[in-house]
Amino acid sequence: MGDIGVEPGDLDTESDAFQRMDSQCTDSTNRRGRGQEPDLALPAVPRQSSGMEFDLEQTDALLSTTRAVRKRLDFDRDVPDDVLLECLQLAVQAPTGSNNQGWRWMVIRDTEKKEALAEIYRQAGGKYLAAAARDADTGTQTGRVIDSASFLAQNFGKVPVMVIPMIIGRLPDSSAGSAAGFMGSIIPAMWSFQLALRSRGLGSCLTTIHLARESEAAKLLGIPDHMTQAGLLPVAYTKGTDFKPAIRPPVEEITYLDTYKNPIR
Ligand SMILES: Cc1cc2nc3c(=O)[nH]c(=O)nc-3n(C[C@H](O)[C@H](O)[C@H](O)COP(=O)(O)O)c2cc1C
Repeated sequence: MGDIGVEPGDLDTESDAFQRMDSQCTDSTNRRGRGQEPDLALPAVPRQSSGMEFDLEQTDALLSTTRAVRKRLDFDRDVPDDVLLECLQLAVQAPTGSNNQGWRWMVIRDTEKKEALAEIYRQAGGKYLAAAARDADTGTQTGRVIDSASFLAQNFGKVPVMVIPMIIGRLPDSSAGSAAGFMGSIIPAMWSFQLALRSRGLGSCLTTIHLARESEAAKLLGIPDHMTQAGLLPVAYTKGTDFKPAIRPPVEEITYLDTYKNPIR
């Protein structure tokens, strides 16, 4: 069962600044339209006087506002293959252990298969979500998250596209090294994919609930036993693009210098 914590993005409203950002992203996507040479160079950004390569305001906005989006996924707007593939081309720039590049991606558009996966998701997590919804105080952060997660569970089949990131092989054992090396060779790519989606006006939510029934999804999609699924990502354009940074603990409180618990500052 994945952590289904805070989802402040679901609570935000539209702002002019982010609408501007959205239209810029759309222009950039259109420039690389169908039939043109793929352009994997990062978009040209104004250099700062310090010689930095990136526009930090834009870069930091992307890194700090890419939220788990559930309620604001636009179920009615199509997601073209070109956009998906562009985001995946960026995603596979992510690091992999020993440079093994074992990522594979399953894109699901078929209505019946999406609904079947949604049902697997509900079978795997429905009881947990229902119990959590009963227990949660609706006015609290936890209550809002459970409400949001329940919404996704109920509506998962309506998303225009689902993506299942996979990695070749099975986790060899449960040691920290094996887990980090194996899952750490797919999760960074998943996050890069989510960042690339966000920069183009789309959103997603990393979910892992269905993995409790991974074999059922594998059977549905013809995925062989030697492939490991790493999650199930709903992919859609977002309703508005004005997502905000989440509340996180001050890093000084969770960062140590030289000795565990020795404050860095
Ligand atoms: C490993 C992992 C597993 C997750 N599994 C689920 C899931 O199964 N269902 C879900 O709705 N959200 C899931 N999430 C999303 C988290 O709930 C979300 O990232 C968290 O609440 C923080 O929200 P934010 O990403 O908007 O900051 C998962 C996130 C991670 C990193």
